[in-house]
Amino acid sequence: MDERVLVAYGSANGSTERIAETVAEVLRTAGITAEALPAGTVTDADRYEAVVVGGALYAGRWHKDARRFVRRHRGALSRRPVWFFSSGPLDSTASQRDIPPVPGVRRAMDRLEVRQHVTFGGCLTEGAHGRVAGMILRSGKGGDFRDFAAIEHWAEDVARELGAMTSP
Ligand SMILES: Cc1cc2nc3c(=O)[nH]c(=O)nc-3n(C[C@H](O)[C@H](O)[C@H](O)COP(=O)(O)O)c2cc1C
Repeated sequence: MDERVLVAYGSANGSTERIAETVAEVLRTAGITAEALPAGTVTDADRYEAVVVGGALYAGRWHKDARRFVRRHRGALSRRPVWFFSSGPLDSTASQRDIPPVPGVRRAMDRLEVRQHVTFGGCLTEGAHGRVAGMILRSGKGGDFRDFAAIEHWAEDVARELGAMTSP
């Protein structure tokens, strides 16, 4: 097994990708081999000891690549420790309180016995794809609400749990 942890993400505009890269970086700093990959490019989740799945939220659901990843790899995911994160809210609520998973993500968590879920603030800036994105930006509701201190903190907890799992 060459990498211990996969961080698979579904992202339309790249901000969830940055979160996933940050999670992988924190794990590597803790001495755990980890890689972040677009969820749609993963062919074999069985190669990893543990998996983190992150999805950008669009209209109350995860980005389709993250949803499809969970469906396609449900066998592998049910046999190893899994963590989920969502990224979405375009305000500071995610930094202030725990935001529960959207219903589809909740159902997947129950099926797979996912260890933990967290919602991080999202990001929407000029250049985002789509008509609705343009409308949100024009109404002045865009911005970068990713809380990298919270993201690092959460990833450190994942690293600690992974460390605890392999300690003698
Ligand atoms: C069309 C559209 C729909 C969105 N729907 C939600 C939503 O239902 N819940 C939420 O928290 N954020 C929502 N957002 C905010 C995005 O989740 C946020 O911009 C996120 O950081 C995007 O991630 P990405 O850059 O990885 O694609 C929406 C944004 C757009 C443009």
